[in-house]
Amino acid sequence: MTTVSIASNARPPNPDTCRVVAAHPGSVDRVLASFGPAVQRAATTAKFRGKEKESFALTHATDDGLCHVVLLGVGDQGTAAERLRVLGDRAGKAATQRGCKRLELDASHVVEAPADPSLGARLVEGLCLSTYGYRTFLSGERAAAPSLDAVEVVGPAGLAEGFDRGRIIAAGIARARDLGNGPAEVVTPTFLADTAQDLARRFADRGVSVEIFDRDACQAMGMGLFLAVAKGSDIPPRFIHLSYRPAGAKTRVVLVGKGVTFDSGGYSLKPTDAMLDMKMDMCGAAAVLGAFEAIVNLGLAVDVHALVAATENMIGGHAYRLGDVYRGLDGTTVEINNTDAEGRLTLADAIAYGRRLEPDYMLDLATLTGACMVALGPRIAGLMSPHDALADTVVSAAERAAERVHRLPLPKDLEDQLESKIADCKNTGERWGGALTAGLFLARFAGDVCWAHLDIAGPAMASKAWGPHREGATGFGVATIAELVAGLAGGA
Ligand code: BES
Ligand code: MN
Ligand code: ZN
Repeated sequence: MTTVSIASNARPPNPDTCRVVAAHPGSVDRVLASFGPAVQRAATTAKFRGKEKESFALTHATDDGLCHVVLLGVGDQGTAAERLRVLGDRAGKAATQRGCKRLELDASHVVEAPADPSLGARLVEGLCLSTYGYRTFLSGERAAAPSLDAVEVVGPAGLAEGFDRGRIIAAGIARARDLGNGPAEVVTPTFLADTAQDLARRFADRGVSVEIFDRDACQAMGMGLFLAVAKGSDIPPRFIHLSYRPAGAKTRVVLVGKGVTFDSGGYSLKPTDAMLDMKMDMCGAAAVLGAFEAIVNLGLAVDVHALVAATENMIGGHAYRLGDVYRGLDGTTVEINNTDAEGRLTLADAIAYGRRLEPDYMLDLATLTGACMVALGPRIAGLMSPHDALADTVVSAAERAAERVHRLPLPKDLEDQLESKIADCKNTGERWGGALTAGLFLARFAGDVCWAHLDIAGPAMASKAWGPHREGATGFGVATIAELVAGLAGGA
């Protein structure tokens, strides 16, 4: 485990320690001036100007061995939170790639004082996740994570206040990534339920408990929409209700995560290319579980309930069909016109269940529509909510979290796309505006609860490494939820 502390200033060179100094175009002269003339000349010749992605590495011999100094350019694009998260990631890698177990990171030339604690949190998040990889099925040397034992950071006061939060959130993100990256054969509904059960066992003395409902129990409750999706799978579904009820909590939040552990599309079958990544269709659930763990570890005084209706969406003799009609937990009947719009059916029953808990706020996260990626690209989540104040709160939490979200409308006049002649509604609208009609479908089940929906189909997974992310599941949403709940607890 990486320990991170604040350092007063630079130490003498040490071969076990990699020294990283961050610069941006506005501070590069100051940074270079702090080195001797030889280094200054070399960095200038290499045209190091502190721009994004630039780096300049220097290895020099001392009596004890080789010492590494790396200058990293952070540029001036994006938000400070985004830049610091990427800086943490790059600095961590700069050290471990050189075989150094210790890192001394001078961020004093790129963060202005007084620093917001959320900036310190992002820096440490990047540092901790710099060694992340999904290695469960790797062998030999490839199975070993590089180790970064200790990091000392030079930076303005205030930065260090966020370090613990960053470490805790990074662990939640790593958990979410592992769940997302795990194959569907491993990360089944039962596996998600076991993960929740482990959390409940570990944190029983902090007010955490769990209820798991199997197929029969869900049937008895009347969750006909969730179970319609689950019909086609031989792997049994699970409905997960994880609760955290700390003393002194004044606010109750329900978090709902889409937990489709594999989405074949059902009889509206996906082509191979579209099915390839569908083990990650439970990234909403992963984010909610990872964030829940972080919230408990942070000891936030907010009542939090995490709900996941976990199932596969498969084909077979028991699978649900196009034209079928099913009744959900709240009594709504839905005609199925596309079995690939399964996520909203599972969420509908989870949201209806969450409503009974009478929360102050409800937030769902779901890899819900390809249409949201068409609208916003692969890195930005779509936020939909009829409640302006909650939408603003989510947007500012996401800003602190260095996660990109953009609000989309819920246009009432598109609701008629969901009208059915034989049921209360259909599960799918027309092609254009598919993210919005999915949001409108969910809104029916949220009723008058103060609810928001985050479509994370794009940012939940990276098709190749970018910014602070590896290829694969990103853990998107964990940091936003944690910052949001920290804000509700009064600790933003
Ligand atoms: N899980 C998919 C959405 C998705 C697509 C997530 C690509 C991540 C990457 C969802 O269940 C789905 O299939 N949605 C359909 C909805 C349509 C049938 C209305 C879609 O987006 O095509
Ligand atoms: Mn689908
Ligand atoms: Zn899906």
